[in-house]
Amino acid sequence: MEIETIDTQGICIPRLGFGTFRMPGTGCQPVVESALALGYRHIDTATMYENEDAVGAALAGAGIARGALHITTKAWHDSLQPDALRRSLDVSLKRLRLDYVDLFMVHWPSPDMDLPAVLETMQKLKDEGRTRAIGVCNFTLPMLKTALDEVRAPLACVQVEYHPFLSQAGLLGYLRPKHIPLVAYAPLAQGRAASDPVLARVGEKHGASAAQIALAWLLDQDGVIAIPKAQHKESQQSNLGALKVRLDDEDRRAIAGLPKDLRYVSPPFAPKWDA
Ligand SMILES: NC(=O)c1ccc[n+]([C@@H]2O[C@H](COP(=O)([O-])OP(=O)(O)OC[C@H]3O[C@@H](n4cnc5c(N)ncnc54)[C@H](OP(=O)(O)O)[C@@H]3O)[C@@H](O)[C@H]2O)c1
Repeated sequence: MEIETIDTQGICIPRLGFGTFRMPGTGCQPVVESALALGYRHIDTATMYENEDAVGAALAGAGIARGALHITTKAWHDSLQPDALRRSLDVSLKRLRLDYVDLFMVHWPSPDMDLPAVLETMQKLKDEGRTRAIGVCNFTLPMLKTALDEVRAPLACVQVEYHPFLSQAGLLGYLRPKHIPLVAYAPLAQGRAASDPVLARVGEKHGASAAQIALAWLLDQDGVIAIPKAQHKESQQSNLGALKVRLDDEDRRAIAGLPKDLRYVSPPFAPKWDA
């Protein structure tokens, strides 16, 4: 099934991508090979995932035209000084065996980062052609306002945790008028969505699983991209099946009734979310 794309800042991002967190080392290679063979073209990795070598090997062997792929990587929060950012992308490109990535992101903000300098360096890396676009993850609304309204950084997207149990209404309300997509990470609430009874009930009506309903709910929303991770081929295939599900107002109302304050990814170095 054709995966719809979103155009932003000169790149074209498939709305259903493939996450690779918690698959360190060589074991990630066959998993990414399987995802590529099934039709995924958007692969999300990061220096911190310790699997860029494996992702690179899978890409090299897949024989897919570079232009048909969207590859995202990210720099860790201890590498946001200009030189460190450059080095981070250099190492990522070597490991991924690529001349450029499609999207280079700040993985987490850091309290002592110099945000204008970070964004200026990222912009330079873009100008030099080592990444086609830049973005940020885990930024709060005030941080985004600084990046976009003050620094005027050409962010292609913003990646944050988003699933049926966590609202991102504030960020979406700010990003949508600017036509900046939101990339939903942990779109299955790290697997929890698959066993949710409300999502399962909605799924029964559509002959779909609870996990497919969680993804369909995200893809039903303007400007939202989802990057589920699935180690098993059956789940990879099943997640692609979410593209066929069309929710109606009754389904949307049922999902709106789920709790919306459950954030599962909040490490000690995370920013104050409600700041
Ligand atoms: N920027 C950031 O700070 C950040 C943070 C977290 C994640 N991310 C990105 O977002 C991606 C997705 O997030 P995530 O991996 O944390 O969580 P997720 O995609 O919400 O959930 C992954 C879990 O769901 C299971 N699963 C997948 N498909 C399923 C299905 N159809 N039925 C039942 N279970 C299913 C997987 O099982 P198996 O794998 O065992 O099959 C895995 O345990 C990451 O891989 C990473 O690329 C970014």
